[in-house]
Amino acid sequence: MPVVVILGAQWGDEGKGKITDYLAAKADIIVRYQGGNNAGHTVVVGDTTYKFHLIPSGILYKDKICVLGNGVVIDPEKLIGELDGITAQGISSENLRISDQAHFILPTHRIFDQHSEDKKGEAKIGTTGRGIGPAYRDKVNRSGIRLGDPRDPVLLRQLVATHFEEHAQELIDVDWTIDRMVDYLLHTYKRLEPYVCNTPALINDTLEKGGNILLEGAQGTLLDIDHGTYPFVTSSNPTAGGACIGSGVGPTRINAIVGVAKSYTTRVGAGPFPTELFDETGALLGKYGHEFGTTTGRARRCGWLDLVALRYAMRINGITHLCITKLDVLDSFEEIKLCTAYCIGEKEFNDYPSQLSTISQVKPIYKTLKGWCKPTSAMRSFTELPSQAIAYIARIEDYLKVPVVLVSVSPERTANLIRQNIWP
Ligand code: GDP
Ligand code: IMO
Ligand code: MG
Repeated sequence: MPVVVILGAQWGDEGKGKITDYLAAKADIIVRYQGGNNAGHTVVVGDTTYKFHLIPSGILYKDKICVLGNGVVIDPEKLIGELDGITAQGISSENLRISDQAHFILPTHRIFDQHSEDKKGEAKIGTTGRGIGPAYRDKVNRSGIRLGDPRDPVLLRQLVATHFEEHAQELIDVDWTIDRMVDYLLHTYKRLEPYVCNTPALINDTLEKGGNILLEGAQGTLLDIDHGTYPFVTSSNPTAGGACIGSGVGPTRINAIVGVAKSYTTRVGAGPFPTELFDETGALLGKYGHEFGTTTGRARRCGWLDLVALRYAMRINGITHLCITKLDVLDSFEEIKLCTAYCIGEKEFNDYPSQLSTISQVKPIYKTLKGWCKPTSAMRSFTELPSQAIAYIARIEDYLKVPVVLVSVSPERTANLIRQNIWP
């Protein structure tokens, strides 16, 4: 009967895909609860690398149901492309289910995303350009089109007509007509129809029959539309509350909230990043960590681990279990820094600021720890780790007052040093 939530505790790309794959082994259903194909989740099995954008990272297990929840936004053409891609890799999509309440990302949403970035000029967010913000904008405006709508072509045409009416200004010089859009949606829906159903009912039925449910977040806490570094955020709620909303599982049914964080920090796109390093150390973190976006290929900005930001993520989500990934990336540093407080002038504090202007001004205060200067990637038990690496993890736990239950030391599926079981 348990429900476990897994989410990003930083700015995304923490290695959620890899940890989801680990947790999915004991799940009956894996649900993506928000975001869209702005996500890029990687799972490495032997010589094969799988990159998922929309499809939950649990799809590698033949016997599990994978759900795209009501909170997800779906670009039908990209989803079909991803389905074709996994089929070519020998993975069956038979157990995929798509919420009929999930919203479509239309081709016009992708165009609006670009327009919006162009208009912002220097202040642009650095979005993934996938149409995420404009699709959620229409959802909140109550004029979105949902995956179940093409079942009724008359209703669908009305909804498309409203879309064109509402966005008339933005659609000048755009090569889409109402007829073309209706045809496009009916055509792509035909391919997705076998998967579309009432997913909150499916999830709750399974739960009531004693099944295990894993709710998988995309992006990360600091990209949350409410709790992140607004406006440099995505347009959904990757935080724990979003897991309930985006899946249809009530908060009282959640048993564990698993936060995933790297042993350092990265960020893609614009916005404040207090521990960002512009020196050789930052470049080395990027090099050793292969820090290039899974979705857009952009270089990720890199810096030391920010415990102030992580403590904030721990509080906002009520994290019960923490997983630290990419510890091996720190293997060759003689000194490793941990940000334990921020300061502005003489004022020192450790509460994450709620205002962008304040976050943009803070300077990190570091504690310096001795590195271990030893490769850890081949290690398969926590006690094998060098004493300095164990001390590093202990400092994180001590600061956050949350147990680090898993430490990851390589992209490979088996490279998880387990300290405590997560499933109740
Ligand atoms: P996600 O978006 O949170 O699923 O993370 P991404 O897949 O976008 O980025 C994480 C990257 O780090 C991927 O390339 C993973 O294969 C890789 N990775 C995950 N865990 C580890 C680890 O412990 N060590 C190393 N070196 N790489 C890892
Ligand atoms: P995963 O799930 C890292 C960032 C973009 C941009 C901002 C808004 O792989 O961790 P959007 O296209 O969502 O409107 O862009 O959010 N962003 C991510 N950064 N990992 C992701 O996903 C991201 N998804 C969006 O770079 O700064
Ligand atoms: Mg990613």
